[in-house]
Amino acid sequence: MSTDSYHSALPTTSIMASEENHNTFDVRRIRADFPILQRTVKGKPLVYLDNAATTQKPTAVIDALTAYYTGCNANIHRGIHTLADEATAAFEATREAARRFIGAASTEEIIFTRGTTESINLVAASWGREHIREGDEIILSTLEHHSNIVPWQMVAEERGARIRVVPVDEDGAFQYEAFLKLLSTRTRIVSIVHVSNALGVVQPIEDIIRAAHGVGALVLVDGAQSAVHLDIDVQRLDCDFFACAAHKIYGPTGVGILYAKHSILSTMAPYQGGGEMIREVRFTGTTYNDPPFRFEAGTPNIADVVAFRAAIEYVEAIGKPVIRAHEEALLAQVSERVLKIPGVRILGDIPGRIGVLSFTVDGVHPQDIGILLDNQGVAVRTGHHCTQPLMHRFGIAGTTRASLALYNTSEEMDFFATSLEKVVRMLS
Ligand code: ALA
Repeated sequence: MSTDSYHSALPTTSIMASEENHNTFDVRRIRADFPILQRTVKGKPLVYLDNAATTQKPTAVIDALTAYYTGCNANIHRGIHTLADEATAAFEATREAARRFIGAASTEEIIFTRGTTESINLVAASWGREHIREGDEIILSTLEHHSNIVPWQMVAEERGARIRVVPVDEDGAFQYEAFLKLLSTRTRIVSIVHVSNALGVVQPIEDIIRAAHGVGALVLVDGAQSAVHLDIDVQRLDCDFFACAAHKIYGPTGVGILYAKHSILSTMAPYQGGGEMIREVRFTGTTYNDPPFRFEAGTPNIADVVAFRAAIEYVEAIGKPVIRAHEEALLAQVSERVLKIPGVRILGDIPGRIGVLSFTVDGVHPQDIGILLDNQGVAVRTGHHCTQPLMHRFGIAGTTRASLALYNTSEEMDFFATSLEKVVRMLS
């Protein structure tokens, strides 16, 4: 099978192009694309509200995985045989889809990693070790996921640099004025979460980037939660680095993207050594390949990268604005009901919040809520959501978090709210 016929054999989404589809968003048709949504949990229909942790996968993605392994599995970039050519073309087709998805200028700016965590570690270990010196400062915010804290702590400790933290207010809002005060010529990099995984709050990322560039600092945007909900255009944002993961965009686990401006990437040292990232190896010394291959040592996760393209095309075919409008309506519906439950406090309850309902209930442990909801077939996440400093800011150990995706329904919101009312009554 030629690469073209391999790709044309991939199933296409049942959803029509976004403009045509604007008034015909049919969540039942979308749900039919996600086989797992048909299953039951503890004898009840699954209500999957843990989408910020990972999204479910449409048939197009599952079939793309099978089609890859049954149709053209081979190692990439190194063979001269037909399968190797086809696998390489399919892998590189995803790089082009990823470029388009986030608005990068060139596929040379797209590096495949294991996920958002590895993307951030790559920047901290490669760019960070090279450019961060004693007395320099790295700016993060209280909202950061541990994966956007610990890699910077490691490089700061090694280099004698200092981490400065932008505070949030009691609602979880990023304190922009405080951020401006932290910025200085000592700031080397500002690494900020675009959409908080724990709260769903959106940071004023354009303003952050502009202000950071004003003092000569670079900016990494942690797009783990934003890439699925917001239209991303890294050229318009003018961010220096953007990190996200396929599995939160209806794609497979084990695949991440690191975008970096070519001018920066071309000066960065490799992150790992091995095959593919070299130009020439001698025992007297090695020269390195150009980006992006310089940063992709070893055999990558080929099948999952290939299948990620089906996820990107699935989302593109529906259109993020349509998806976002659907999710916003669900969030408004469920928030209104949950707020009426005695003792409930929604964290991050500020305008523009995306896809996440994170809350505490007075005197009730989130884990107890999670377990009893699971008995009703409702999957939520409980705990600190890998944001312990944020939980510490609020003086709590954790929250219960319901997070939404395009396949959630109004009926599910009602079922979740009714189940939560019962659970809280039982536990209070
Ligand atoms: N970071 C993912 C979450 O928020 C795992 O659940």
